[in-house]
Amino acid sequence: MIRVLKAAACALALLALPAAPAAAQTKAAPSAEARIDALIARMTLEEKLGQLVQMPGGRQRTPNSRINDDERARVRAGLVGSYINVAGAKESRDLQKIAVEESRLGIPLLFAMDIIHGYRTIFPVPLAMASSWDPAVLEKAGRVAAVEATASGLHWTFTPMVDIARDPRWGRIVEGAGEDPFLGSAVAVAQVRGLQGDDLTAHDSILATAKHFAAYGAAVGGRDYASADISERTLHEIYLPPFYAAARAGAGSFMTSFNDVGGAPVTANKALVRGILRDQWGYQGLVISDWMAVDELRNHGVAETGGDAAALALSASIDMDMASNLFPTQLAEKVKSDPSLLPYVDEAVRRVLMTKAKLGLFDNPYKRSDVRREARSMLTAKHRAAAREAALRSIVLLKNEGNLLPLSSAVRRIAVVGALADDANSHLGSWRARGEVEQVRPFLPALRAALPGAQITYEAGASPKSDDASGIARAVEAARASDLVLLVVGEDFDLSGEARSRSDLALPGAQQALADALLDTGKPVIVLLMNGRPLAIPELAERAPAILETWFLGVEAGPAIVDVLLGRVSPGGKLPVTFPRSTGSAPFYYSHLPSGRPADPDLTKDTARYRDLAITPLFPFGHGLSYTRFDYSDLRIEGEQVPADGRVTLSIIVRNTGSVRGDEVVQLYVRDPVASISRPVQELRGFRRIALDPGEAKRVRFTLTPAQLALWDAGQWRVEPGRIDVMLGSSSADIRVRGAFTITSAARTNEPAAAIPTPTAEERVR
Ligand code: NOJ
Repeated sequence: MIRVLKAAACALALLALPAAPAAAQTKAAPSAEARIDALIARMTLEEKLGQLVQMPGGRQRTPNSRINDDERARVRAGLVGSYINVAGAKESRDLQKIAVEESRLGIPLLFAMDIIHGYRTIFPVPLAMASSWDPAVLEKAGRVAAVEATASGLHWTFTPMVDIARDPRWGRIVEGAGEDPFLGSAVAVAQVRGLQGDDLTAHDSILATAKHFAAYGAAVGGRDYASADISERTLHEIYLPPFYAAARAGAGSFMTSFNDVGGAPVTANKALVRGILRDQWGYQGLVISDWMAVDELRNHGVAETGGDAAALALSASIDMDMASNLFPTQLAEKVKSDPSLLPYVDEAVRRVLMTKAKLGLFDNPYKRSDVRREARSMLTAKHRAAAREAALRSIVLLKNEGNLLPLSSAVRRIAVVGALADDANSHLGSWRARGEVEQVRPFLPALRAALPGAQITYEAGASPKSDDASGIARAVEAARASDLVLLVVGEDFDLSGEARSRSDLALPGAQQALADALLDTGKPVIVLLMNGRPLAIPELAERAPAILETWFLGVEAGPAIVDVLLGRVSPGGKLPVTFPRSTGSAPFYYSHLPSGRPADPDLTKDTARYRDLAITPLFPFGHGLSYTRFDYSDLRIEGEQVPADGRVTLSIIVRNTGSVRGDEVVQLYVRDPVASISRPVQELRGFRRIALDPGEAKRVRFTLTPAQLALWDAGQWRVEPGRIDVMLGSSSADIRVRGAFTITSAARTNEPAAAIPTPTAEERVR
C-alpha cells in the first residue's frame, strides 16, 4: 500500500512551480493544472470533501493539542486538507508523513496559523506599523515572520488583515492599517510581498491571506461581527481597494468575513465572492471561510441546516471550511440531491490542490518542517534588530509643547507612573503567535538601563483593568518628589482585538483621574500612550504638554520608546487613523464628503457638526510631529493638462530647517471639486517617508494618473474631465502647498482608484 502512495507522491513531484515573481504566483504552470486534474479524477467524493476542510489542531498557544489517534486516522484516510494550529518542525513533519506516506493518494496537508505581527519575534501591532508610513517596515516584518514560521512547518498564515477601519470602537482596528484605502493598499502589498517572498515554493515563503473579505470593518456601531450596511460606492471606493491590491500582489488566499453586507452574510455571498472576487477580478487563489462561519450561516438566518449552510458557502465560492467541519460531513448528501453542486466541489478541490502545488508541497512536503532550521531561526539578533527598527519607526509624537521632548539630560528625578509602564505582556499586543513575554524588553527596565544616573521611581497609580483609584495618592507623592512625570496610560493588550469592541473611547479605569491628579501637581507630565485604537482623550490632549503614541510595540518596545524619549532618534510616524474628540463623534474620518452645509465653527449657522464639540478631530489623520521642523516649497506640476490616459508629475522641495536629523512623511492629497457625484474633501494618493539631516533638502516626486481619480458609479470606474486640486503637506490638516491640474478627457478604467500605487522618488537638492 505504502509503495502505491509513494508513487502518487512522486508523480506529483513535477508539480513544483518555477520561481515566479509574487505577482505571478496566482497562476501555476499548465502542466501543474493538468496533473491536478488527473489527481482529482482519481479522488472519491469523500476524499474531495476532506480536502475542503481545515480542522483545529489545537489552539494558538497550545498547538497540536488536538492531534490524537482519531485525528491521525482521519489524515490516514485522506479526509482532511489542512490544520490550523499544528506547528513545530517535528510535530508538523510527523503528521505530514502520515498524509503523504499513509493516505491513499498521498496528498500533503497545509498547516496554518494566525501570525499577525510576528511568529516568535513579535513586531509592533499592525496599526502601529502602519503608523510608520513605510511599507518596507511591513515587508521586513512579514519576511521575518515567514522565516520563523516556516521553520516550524507552517505553510499558510491569516495575514494581512486589510480591512479598512473607520470606527475606533471596533476592536480589530488594531490588526489593520487604519482608515485609508490608499495607505491600506500600500501596506497590504508590502505585507503580501514580505510573507510570500519572491518564490512561493521557497522553504521560507508562507502563503498570505487577505482578510476579511469584505467590509468587516464597517460593522455597525463598531460592534465586532455586526452587519455592514454601506453603499455600493463606499464598498468599492473604500473597503475593497486593499483587497484588490493584495490580490494583484499575488496573495495566495483570501478569507471571507463573519459579517453580512446589507443582509447577505459574506460566507454565502455569491455577489461578493463569486461575483466580484472571482468573476470581476479573476482571482484564482484559495478562499477560506472564517472560523466556524459556515455553521454560523444558521445564526444569520439564511440556512436552516448545516447542509444548507455548507451548500450556500460552497456555491458562493468558498473553497475551504474553517473549523465547522460541515463541508466534509454534509456536502455528500447535498451533492446527491443536487448534482449541480458537484462542479463547485471540483473547482474548490482544484484550488486547494493548486495551492499545495504552488507552495511546492507535492515536490517536497517536508521542506518547511526543518528541526535544525527551527532551532536557529527564532528571535535571532537580526530579527530583534528588525523589530527594534519597526518599533522606532512606528512611534508617533502627538504633542510636544515647548519642546519638552526629548528629555533634557539635566532631568535627574523621574516619576514613572501607570500600570502599563510595567506591563511587558501588553507590549506584545493582540495576537502573539509563539511570542513569549519573557523575551520582551519592557519600558521601565529599559529606561533605568539608559539613565543609570537618574533617580527613577515607579508607581502604578491606576490600571486600565480596574476602577481602583487607591494608588493615585502615592503616584501624586512620587510626582511631587520628581522633576518630571512619565505617565504611561491607555489600554492593556486585551482591550483591543477580536471581540474587543468598546462603547467608550476614553481612558479605561481610573487612568483619567490619575492623569488629572498628576497634572494638578504642576509638574511636567509627559504622556506615553499604549493602546490598540484611537482614544478620545480631549482633557489629556489639552493639559499634557507632551504626548507620545507608542501603541503596542512588540519585543523591542522598551528600548525603542527610550531611544525616542532621549532623542537618540527623532519620531517620524504619522497617524493612520483619526483620533476623535469624543466617542460620540466616531466614526470621524478625514476623507468625508463635503455636505451642502459644511461644518463651520460658527454656531449661529446650521452646519454639519455637533453643537457640543469642536469641528476638528483631536489628532488628524496623517498627524505626527518631529524633533525637527520641515519646510515645504517650490511645487512643480508637469502635465497640468492631462488626458485621461496620461500622467502628471508633482514635485516639491522639503527642507529640514531644525537642528537634528529627522524623518518626514510627505503626503499628497487630491480633491475633485466638481464632479457628477459628490467627492471627498481630501483623498490620499501619495506619500513618502524621507530622512533629512539638519539643513538638508530633497525634492520629492509623485507621479499620478487620472485613473487614481476615478469614481465608482453605476457599476463602473469612471474618470471625469475637469480640475483636480492637489494638496501637499505634513498631515491631512497641515497642508503646506496647494496646486491643481486638469484632466482633459473622460475614460472608463478597471481598477479601484485607491489601489493604484503612486510612484515616488526623492532627489537631494542644494
Ligand atoms: C477568527 C478571526 O476572525 C480570523 O481573523 C482568524 O484568522 C481566525 N479566527 C483563525 O484564528
